Amino acid sequence: MPAEILSTHTPALFATAVEQAAARLRTGEVVAVPTETVYGLAANALDSAAVARIYAAKGRPSYNPIIVHVASRPMARACAAVWPSLADRLAAAFWPGPLTLVVPKAEVIPEIVTAGGNTVGVRWPQHPFMQALIRACDFPLAAPSANLTNQLSPTNATHVFRQLGDRVPLIVDGGDCNVGIESTVVDVTGAAPRILRPGMITEPSLLAAAALAAGRAPTPEADAGALRSPGLLKKHYSPQARVVLRSWRDESELTDQLVRLNASPERTFVLAHTRIPLSGRLPHVLIIPDDPEAFARGLYAELHRCDELGAEWIVVEELPDTPAWSGLTDRLRRAAA
Ligand code: TXA
Ligand code: MG
Repeated sequence: MPAEILSTHTPALFATAVEQAAARLRTGEVVAVPTETVYGLAANALDSAAVARIYAAKGRPSYNPIIVHVASRPMARACAAVWPSLADRLAAAFWPGPLTLVVPKAEVIPEIVTAGGNTVGVRWPQHPFMQALIRACDFPLAAPSANLTNQLSPTNATHVFRQLGDRVPLIVDGGDCNVGIESTVVDVTGAAPRILRPGMITEPSLLAAAALAAGRAPTPEADAGALRSPGLLKKHYSPQARVVLRSWRDESELTDQLVRLNASPERTFVLAHTRIPLSGRLPHVLIIPDDPEAFARGLYAELHRCDELGAEWIVVEELPDTPAWSGLTDRLRRAAA
């Protein structure tokens, strides 16, 4: 049976969707839900059997831990054995929002959520449906992105349906995701925050908020990002087409690059943000905004579209090397790996 899809765009539909999703989650089922970053595949985080269904539906390897979503600070606190002051400060600055804090796990969080590890990733998402759902359930929701393992994350309900439509009972349609890429994941078990996965909350903002906590100047960790996060395999977040990152001065330089790739222009989609090929000789040029937040909001939808249209190659214009773009560069490098 294909998944049921519930809309949320009127107060009555919203309330019904909360009720039905919560009812399924209470009985241990999985439900695909909107968040402001990407859609998630949720289950009761305190119920091992329910969480096992997430791994099964996604084909997720058992070594990859799952983020737990909460709707208040006390609920977050209850997931942790210790709540570091650093976590407090970052939560005050960025929650609800696209930030996951990795803290020592509490007893109540089953091992299947943390893949056997002694830390748990906790996030208070900003999306109104997700918040209402967690409050209705009154238990935290484990939720990875609602895609098949190693495929592109979904940023609308149609994306979810295409990948998981025959593997989950219910998809809640909460519209297009407002952030568009996955949360920044930060380990706060040490003295300074360590970024395990970059995102739209940047390192300078994290360090500034952390420094307020410690009452000292921000000092970036030399090995920030080097710390292992089990899910951060090099190849990840990939569309079906082959992705490459390139820069070009003008269209003829871009065309030369396509020749070198042996990429036929008919099957090649160019995603440009500043040097846009305008001659009309390249049939598939997608323009994405030259602004990190707008770019993030549109990126996955464009990559999904390239796949639907049968792209063989996706050539993405290199992004600026600044903190605001680092989460996006990370996702594109992984897509290209
Ligand atoms: O924005 C997001 O974070 C979305 C939405 C649904 O909240 N979720 C998401 O989940 O992207 P997922 O499972 O696709 O990615 C979670 C990442 C993985 O790389 C995982 O390894 C890492 O977070 N992670 C989760 N718990 C961890 C932990 N205890 N220690 C280290 N890394 C952890
Ligand atoms: Mg994912």
